[in-house]
Amino acid sequence: MVSTSLPGGTWTLGDLTVTRFGYGAMQLAGPWVMGPPADHQGALAVLREAVDLGITHIDTADAYGPHVTNRLIREALHPYPDALHIVTKVGATRDDRGGWPPARDPASLRRAVHDNLENLGLDVLDLVNLRLGDADGPQPESVAEAFATLADLQQQGLIRHLGVSNATAEQVAEARTIAPIVCVQNMYNLAHRHDDDLIDKLAADGIAYVPFFPLGGFTPLQSSALSAVAARLGTTPMSVALAWLLHRSPNILLIPGTSSVAHLRENVAGAALTLSPADLAELAVIRWAGSAAESTVDPG
Ligand SMILES: NC(=O)c1ccc[n+]([C@@H]2O[C@H](COP(=O)([O-])OP(=O)(O)OC[C@H]3O[C@@H](n4cnc5c(N)ncnc54)[C@H](OP(=O)(O)O)[C@@H]3O)[C@@H](O)[C@H]2O)c1
Repeated sequence: MVSTSLPGGTWTLGDLTVTRFGYGAMQLAGPWVMGPPADHQGALAVLREAVDLGITHIDTADAYGPHVTNRLIREALHPYPDALHIVTKVGATRDDRGGWPPARDPASLRRAVHDNLENLGLDVLDLVNLRLGDADGPQPESVAEAFATLADLQQQGLIRHLGVSNATAEQVAEARTIAPIVCVQNMYNLAHRHDDDLIDKLAADGIAYVPFFPLGGFTPLQSSALSAVAARLGTTPMSVALAWLLHRSPNILLIPGTSSVAHLRENVAGAALTLSPADLAELAVIRWAGSAAESTVDPG
């Protein structure tokens, strides 16, 4: 059992207890998530600091780099502490222009699971998300063949738990007819709240919702209401954005990304902020009707 003083406490993914404050490793690869980091030792230091701070949930994918963040995680942290749970995703690969083409045929998914095992130095992956959709966000397509392939790998003992990412509510429901899921990882933040209904439904069913781009991703969240609340509370917009997510629903797990030890510490401290009803009312006016396609890069 993990006890934590990190903001938000803990959540249980299937039988795995994790801190609600996690860490997203995507920003550790090179520019646009391609190639190695400019500062290799600095990247290792961020990962070690995450674990030293008590974080027990690290989000990654073998497509980051590709292979770069998984190998950094292994170099920094293997052999892993028992309490640490590494969550990865499969279903997209990389092309030589830095794109994220889908790779959801059964052979590609099997290869991706084995690549993750090898690059992370594990015999079993704790949690694998099937990454759906494309650069424009979730797309209405059946997940049956791809999710059944992952369920088969789970039956073989290579994966403990399954989730879906970049998914519509219909795809979440379809996946759940094939095998249980413990999380959904979709784009969501203060200014991008298309999944409000889905979050509430998952909370009722005991399933975690893990927002990617919690700070806005490659385009940091900008809003006059957010800045005003942060200024009044004497903190940063990032801190307010993270605290708001923890407050939004108990099934929300944070995986903010950073390549900086200083930002990691700032984010952990900032997420502990208490927001008053007046703060929440002011933040409720923030709305952004855009889609993932308006991001400057594909979701990873
Ligand atoms: N499932 C999917 O399709 C998908 C898609 C995208 C991402 N993800 C996952 O979600 C995680 C989070 O997303 P993300 O990392 O792209 O975006 P994010 O967490 O919304 O934002 C990361 C950006 O914020 C900056 N930042 C972080 N803390 C800061 C601070 N205290 N002050 C100023 N700037 C700060 C980082 O820059 P610095 O490095 O300079 O701190 C980085 O540019 C990823 O790491 C990845 O694991 C999943």
